[in-house]
Parts: sequence; structure tokens; C-alpha cells
Amino acid sequence: MEGKTHMTSSCVPFPRDFVWGAATSAYQIEGGWNEDGKDPSVWDHFCHTPGHIHNGETGDIACDHYHRVSEDVALMKELGITSYRFSINWPRILPDGNGPINHTGLDFYSRLIDHLLEADIEPCVTLHHWELPLALHRRGGWLNPETAKAFSRLAEVVGKAFRGRVRRYLTLNEPQCITALGYGNGVHAPGNRTDPLTQAAVAHQLLLGHGYAVQALRSTAGTVEVGVASTGSIVCPAEDTVENRAVACDATFRCGENWTFMHSWFLDPMVLGHYPEQRPPELDAFVQSVSPDELAQICQPLDFIAANIYSGDEIDAGGRLIPRPTGWPRTALRWSVSPKSLHYGPAFLYRRYHLPIYVSENGQSCNDRIFLDGQVHDPDRIDYLQRYLLALRDAIREGVPVMGYYHWSLMDNFEWQSGYDDRFGLIFVDYANKLRRIPKDSFYAYRQIIASNGGCLNDPGNLGSRR
Ligand code: NOJ
Repeated sequence: MEGKTHMTSSCVPFPRDFVWGAATSAYQIEGGWNEDGKDPSVWDHFCHTPGHIHNGETGDIACDHYHRVSEDVALMKELGITSYRFSINWPRILPDGNGPINHTGLDFYSRLIDHLLEADIEPCVTLHHWELPLALHRRGGWLNPETAKAFSRLAEVVGKAFRGRVRRYLTLNEPQCITALGYGNGVHAPGNRTDPLTQAAVAHQLLLGHGYAVQALRSTAGTVEVGVASTGSIVCPAEDTVENRAVACDATFRCGENWTFMHSWFLDPMVLGHYPEQRPPELDAFVQSVSPDELAQICQPLDFIAANIYSGDEIDAGGRLIPRPTGWPRTALRWSVSPKSLHYGPAFLYRRYHLPIYVSENGQSCNDRIFLDGQVHDPDRIDYLQRYLLALRDAIREGVPVMGYYHWSLMDNFEWQSGYDDRFGLIFVDYANKLRRIPKDSFYAYRQIIASNGGCLNDPGNLGSRR
């Protein structure tokens, strides 16, 4: 494992205005799936259909955050985060996707935002974290151009309602996963399995939706920063030389067979105004058929790029993938622990797109449990957090403008097709016992990191103690 040298490096804190956050999404924590005028989303429907989710679990109740906003915000305050990233459950606000506004749904988010502001926590709103209204799906979902227009309407409604209170927005969360998992292999809602050309059409509508939403926010939401939460493969050089970095950076963005899971398929059109030049030949005709007008709709000025980064690969000087050796550390979901991805990921994204960077998600899944002493000890997560943040600091030291970090996740939650077994939270949710919240050791570690603005990262022995 890399990282040892970090422990002895001098103790330089993060930039003064660095944003220390935590993230969640609506379906994964809210529950209240059919309350107060909310209609179903594709995820409600997908989970209610047997065979899709581990143990047949659903987000019907999830962490019941819908009814526990003040308790949860009080925990955020205790944690000391300066920003909280959450998403809007689209059919809570527009049950039909594009019809009348459900004001009770809007009020829920308005209350949450007020609680956050009172606690001095800046809201960061993701407009779409996969909660597509079922009604829109039944009219064709992301294959119907109406959906992109309806998304612009959602942005308008939300932007107007929270004007002056919300200053940071993300349009889409991981359009890569919507395309690859929702419409590619069908592992995510809506569970469609389609061919690559159909997936390219889905990706294109998502891109248009993003572009329209940026424009809608700019015209309704007041002074706001707008970005998108992208994900994808990050390729790191095993040995850090200028040449190896260039090879790794190229590999990070070159679109081959795995194009749906690449940052560049989405970020190139959004930021550079064209689809990637290195792409699978089978998509050439599609890309060439896209009109300049549509590309102009998609490519709207952004204030930052946000990236969800959990893992990465390493290559040698010849560009060959280096397999992880036997016994390499892995998370509960079997993702390889690769701190370097939080150094090279932001560095490469900045190199290609020249925009400030937020890490909008990063964290480790564990099979956490309550120990006999009644507490939840999670040293693996603390070690992960520390190693990744030290790597992020390397990027900042090199001059990459990283503005903030959002830990995934604030609390344990519904991990999509994997259900509830794999836990990502800084706060344990006791599903068997009235959804009681128990801050884990990592909660206290992150609290110390935030309070010292990263200064205590060099003091690994003490992280997580409940001082
Ligand atoms: C990506 C997604 O945005 C989030 O919803 C998910 O729970 C985490 N990463 C972990 O898989």
C-alpha cells in the first residue's frame, strides 16, 4: 500500500476555505416513499418488483430521514461539517414528473434547508440522484426528449423555491451509472437492458437535461455555483514521472468498450463542447449526427466539476494494468483501496477541464456492527479516510484547486441493489432497533480532521478517540 511516506511529511493544513462535507441521496435515506402526495419513482417500482434487490429490501422506510430531519441535522452539527450534500426526490416535488407542484414535498426540503442554515451548514443540492418519476419512465424515461425538458422544469422549480438559501447545485449524479446500469445491464432502475446505441441515446438525453438544468438554475436560483457529479475510471501511474502521468491521464479519459463508465463521455460534451475523439467506432455515426445546436445546449459554463472517487487502477510505464497483488486491501463491496485515486483523479480532471474540483463522494463500505461496549468501532474506515485525504492533499499541494470533500456517507443507507448489508456511514443506523443513530469512531475521527482543517491527519494514532 502507498501512503507510508505521508506520515512523516510536514503538517500542512488544507486551504482556509476548504469545504468539509458529507453526502447522502434522497432514495437512500428518506423513506416516506408514498407520503404527502409523493408518487413513485423508478426506484420505488424497481425495488417493489421481486428479484432485483438483495434480500428483497427497499427504500420504503430507509433511514426514515423524512421524519427525522432535526435529529439528523443536529448530528451533522456535532460532526462539524460545513456543507451537506443531499438530493431532491423528483416525484416528491413533481409527482407526475412535469405536472403540478406538490407543495408539501417542496416544504420538506425547505425545512431541511432552514435547519441546515440555522446550524451553519451550507446546503449542496443534487437535483437528480436517480429518483426519476415513474410517470416519466412510463412515457419513455431518458429515451424520451420530454424527460430532459421536465428536468429543466424541476431545476426551475427548485431554483426558484430555494433562491438565496442554496448556493451550490449539482445537476446529475453519476450519469454514467444511469446509462450503464439503468439502461445497460439493468442492475439499477429502471432495469432496462439495451444495446450501446440506445445507451448512447440515453447518455445524450442526460447531457441535454444537464445543459437545460444549468440554464434554468442560472435564470431562477440567483447567485449559485453549478456543477455535475461525475464518476468513472481513474488510472494512476505506478511510478510518478512526467511521462507516466501523461500515459495514465490519457488512459483515464480514453473511451473504449467501457465508454459508459468514463468521465470523458459526459464531461467532454459538458465542458469542452464535443464528444471524446477517442471513442468506440460503433458510436461514430451517432456522434457525428449530433447537431452543433444540441452541443451548445449541453456545453453551458460550469463553476466546478465534482467527482465521486472511491478507487482506481495502476499502470506501468508501458500503459499496462498492474493487477493488485494477492491480499490487497478491499472494502466490504470488494472495491480495491486505492488512495492514489484521490491524488491523480482530481489532478487529471483539472488538467483536462481546467475547472475547480470538488470530491462529491468518497468513503468505504464495511460490515460494521455494534461492539459489546455499545459503540461502533470502524478502524478500517478511519484508515481509508486518512490515506485518501492525505492523497487529496498531495493534489492540493501540487496546485490543483480542490475546493471541498464530501464523505460518502453521512449515515448508513440503502446501497441500491446491495440493500442494507454494506454500510458506508459515519453514523451507524440500527435497522433492527428503531433506526437508532450511533456515531461510529470514524465520525469522531472526521470531526477531529474537520476541526483541525486536516492538520491532525499526520497524527494517525489519535484519530477517532472520543475526546
Ligand atoms: C455512488 C452513488 O452516487 C451513491 O449513491 C452510492 O451509494 C455510492 N457511490 C456507493 O456505491
